[in-house]
Amino acid sequence: MRIGFIGLGRMGGNMVRRLLRDGHEVVAYNRSPERTREIATEGAEPAFTVRELVDKLPKPRTVWIMVPAGDATEAQIAELMDHLESGDTIVDGGNTNFHDDVRRHAELARQGIRYVDAGVSGGIWGLQNGFCLMVGGDPEAVAPLEPVFRSLAPVDGYLHAGAPGAGHYVKMIHNGIEYGLMQAYAEGFEILHASDYNLDLARVADLWMNGSVVRSWLLELLGRAYKSQGQDLERLKGWVADSGEGRWTVQEAIERDVPAPVITISLQTRFRSRQDDSYGAKVLAALRNEFGGHAVRES
Ligand SMILES: NC(=O)c1ccc[n+]([C@@H]2O[C@H](COP(=O)([O-])OP(=O)(O)OC[C@H]3O[C@@H](n4cnc5c(N)ncnc54)[C@H](OP(=O)(O)O)[C@@H]3O)[C@@H](O)[C@H]2O)c1
Repeated sequence: MRIGFIGLGRMGGNMVRRLLRDGHEVVAYNRSPERTREIATEGAEPAFTVRELVDKLPKPRTVWIMVPAGDATEAQIAELMDHLESGDTIVDGGNTNFHDDVRRHAELARQGIRYVDAGVSGGIWGLQNGFCLMVGGDPEAVAPLEPVFRSLAPVDGYLHAGAPGAGHYVKMIHNGIEYGLMQAYAEGFEILHASDYNLDLARVADLWMNGSVVRSWLLELLGRAYKSQGQDLERLKGWVADSGEGRWTVQEAIERDVPAPVITISLQTRFRSRQDDSYGAKVLAALRNEFGGHAVRES
């Protein structure tokens, strides 16, 4: 299949490589032309403007956008809409909020443009292992794209999850679960690290990859990190970003009266990791000092 790709970053670049490897033709565009030139040396057809990208695609066209969710994706869609025609399809592969998908699907449908949301998982390992794809959209928009989805995904790694927004909805919950899993590993390994047993944590992580009920790819990655960085992780500060899906998962849980304490606390632990000191803990210290004369430490 011949497809246009906008956004050749860590994800988009490797997705294009995987498509090329499977015999697809890709017209590739990136905001900074260096990345476009680079991927052109690997077999993609370069485009240096959105107009050029659209002109190089057969009708009906398909354009996959892989840029940061929110304003960047919104602006990219708006620019594309100056050039696309009825019958063309836009695929948003970024980590978009499913509410935006539902809105966009309706807006674009009024102009005859099909909109497909594709939640992508696999990170920088996707080129090698395949990208897990969670897709939402109308069946008539999704079906023609299946050859592309199947090339990007590993065997059994693609699902048309449901109506517009369903792909990013499933991806949102996937990432919420990821927050909780990572938090559990972080806490368990912190206790192991604090113990008197002088444990080799890389070996524990590797051990648990063999037959244990807590084996997982995240655990495998932790073993890799220990081996390359040492188990004290001295090079790193305990500062953890969050990028949307965790918050949206918690908001959705609240919206639906679903208890989700692990994911919620995992998200809030990341907030705490970004504070140099905790104002809330200062309040606790002040109160204990007021009512009981308990010791405090000066800052
Ligand atoms: N990294 C992951 O593990 C992962 C996993 C699943 C989904 N995602 C999602 O995939 C999307 C891309 O992520 P990534 O990791 O590939 O990001 P990235 O490596 O930072 O690359 C971002 C890409 O978007 C382009 N871009 C950034 N801001 C733009 C703007 N305002 N207008 C036009 N283009 C812009 C960049 O162009 P320049 O080269 O010009 O900067 C670059 O090509 C995001 O929505 C992300 O949430 C990421």
